[in-house]
Amino acid sequence: MGIRIRDADQLKVREDVFDEVTLLALYKLVHKKWLSAIGGSISTGKEANVFYGERDAVGIAIKIYRIRTANFTTMSSYITGDRRFSHVKKAKKELIFAWTRKEFSNLVRARDAGIAVPEPLVWDRNILIMSFIGEGECPYPQLRNAEMEDPQDIYSRIVKCIDILYNKAELVHADLSEFNILYGDQPYLIDMGQSVTRDHPRALPFLMRDIKNINRFFKNRCEVQKDTEIFHAVTGLKVAEP
Ligand SMILES: Nc1ncnc2c1ncn2[C@@H]1O[C@H](COP(=O)(O)OP(=O)(O)OP(=O)(O)O)[C@@H](O)[C@H]1O
Ligand SMILES: [Mg+2]
Repeated sequence: MGIRIRDADQLKVREDVFDEVTLLALYKLVHKKWLSAIGGSISTGKEANVFYGERDAVGIAIKIYRIRTANFTTMSSYITGDRRFSHVKKAKKELIFAWTRKEFSNLVRARDAGIAVPEPLVWDRNILIMSFIGEGECPYPQLRNAEMEDPQDIYSRIVKCIDILYNKAELVHADLSEFNILYGDQPYLIDMGQSVTRDHPRALPFLMRDIKNINRFFKNRCEVQKDTEIFHAVTGLKVAEP
């Protein structure tokens, strides 16, 4: 079976993203009918590219971690502290596959806890396929570019997500900001490759950083709770006032 890779004929994208390993994984996913077409590129990030795709005419998002250019050193610190992944070999390719699997399982945990995240559908090697968060082929805007009618309400929903994520999914997002939240009918948390379990040695500092990022973004848009108050409400731990 053939597959069209639309908009990906720029040489740079083709070489960086669609190497042999990735193409094999894609063909396997096509063969297993997880994927019927790859559409336009939605985003080129530091470690991954995201493409619009279709499965039986239904939109999906295809996130492909680049094996060549991924930032290997930072990735490894998020993996080694996580007991679920401590056995992962330190070879680059293995690490990127583990990272993909980690994002998949983090999305499953978050979703099981009732948080609005893309529905993870399948992963293979460095490819993660999830439900498409947007309208038609157009993803919902990142929170930083979204028009918010009621920022106070959106703020409290996001703080609630942080709480549920920590207490029910037992995860810390660890890269939460206006870049990794899509806003449409409601806020959706995305980009959970780096999310860690509560027992990760840096889980608490990551949690505090997430809270600070959200407060920084909202403080000129609505009333925000103190960082330390949210941290206390979520974890039950007291922090000294700065
Ligand atoms: N499920 C999805 N539905 C629609 N759009 C998505 C989805 N997942 C990602 N996107 C789009 O792709 C962009 C980048 O996704 P994401 O934040 O997961 O990766 P990234 O930031 O590029 O990762 P990195 O910086 O680690 O390379 C998002 O801002 C969004 O526009
Ligand atoms: Mg991101």
